[in-house]
Amino acid sequence: MSSLVFLTGATGFVGSHIAEALVRGGFRVRCAIRTTSDVRWLRGLPAETVETTRIDLSSPAAIDESLRDVTHVVHAAGITRASNESDYLSVNANVTQSVAEAAVRASVTRFVLISSLAARGPDGSRGPASAYGASKLESERRLQAVVESGGSLEPRVLRPGGVYGPRDRDLLPLFQVARSGFVPVPRGVGRLQPVYASDVATAVLQALDVEWSGDGPFHLGGPEVHTWEDIASALGEAIGRPVRPIRVPAALFLAAGSLSELAAFIRRRAPDLDRRRARDLTRLDWTCELGPVEQELGWRPAVSLRKGLMEAADWYREAGWLGR
Ligand SMILES: NC(=O)c1ccc[n+]([C@@H]2O[C@H](COP(=O)([O-])OP(=O)(O)OC[C@H]3O[C@@H](n4cnc5c(N)ncnc54)[C@H](OP(=O)(O)O)[C@@H]3O)[C@@H](O)[C@H]2O)c1
Repeated sequence: MSSLVFLTGATGFVGSHIAEALVRGGFRVRCAIRTTSDVRWLRGLPAETVETTRIDLSSPAAIDESLRDVTHVVHAAGITRASNESDYLSVNANVTQSVAEAAVRASVTRFVLISSLAARGPDGSRGPASAYGASKLESERRLQAVVESGGSLEPRVLRPGGVYGPRDRDLLPLFQVARSGFVPVPRGVGRLQPVYASDVATAVLQALDVEWSGDGPFHLGGPEVHTWEDIASALGEAIGRPVRPIRVPAALFLAAGSLSELAAFIRRRAPDLDRRRARDLTRLDWTCELGPVEQELGWRPAVSLRKGLMEAADWYREAGWLGR
């Protein structure tokens, strides 16, 4: 009988790519979903290997029930935008703790946590630069505290940088704006290393497979570091027209974030762009060393920015998100 993975966040962008990779890797998968979850990304997966369980991840008893026969846990559920800063902590940190505690009770060993490069902060920083990043760092600490409290849990913490690819709604506005031939980008040099979603999913597979030295967390980035000019040029190829970056002051980005938050507050939903994302974009460099993760997991990102943006644009067009 193949190993059974309990996967949280499978209905989201990153988690749905992880679910597909787990199936490709020969795992059976039990996806934790909510009563409100949209399960459309899971529909194409083989029913004989992928099952869903409707649970509230804040309920220890419900998680215990769902972990029956589970051998591995991949915890990808989390929030990347919130209308209220305390929501970051209550979802990203508290839920991680509940799932990790249940994993110990169920004698699970391998536990992959999808953290974020935001837990480290931008290049050269001494820590997270946003409430989101702080909550992801706290999620890592809570997992570590559970590990240290006993049991046989082996934590594998992965910190992807900005993830992009099919089904991602966060970068969709960039594609949409680029169709005008321009993209607004923050002033300054700006070095970025976005990672393609299927590469993140492959890293998860490898984290489940290999013996782990206990080191980490491991940063996941794309194969190359890019400037905004590179990104605009690759976007242009992806959408089939030249795209020029237009440098705008950081203050304008922040103002756009505030406006978007206000509009979202009025519409009672989480904002598409918020001050945290705007601030993250104006903090210039988000790059990472890939040596440690290559050494530990044998993982290297396979998809270049050009190829990844091309595939994402094709997918957006196919899905009708970008027009034809
Ligand atoms: N996107 C990125 O660039 C990026 C970069 C680094 C790390 N990450 C991390 O990757 C993970 C997934 O992010 P994403 O971009 O894929 O976000 P997403 O598309 O919004 O997906 C979030 C997933 O988490 C689930 N979820 C949220 N709150 C939950 C709760 N209280 N209880 C149970 N499930 C909950 C959602 O379930 P529903 O479908 O029911 O809402 C969904 O399946 C997060 O942990 C994030 O911090 C993302």
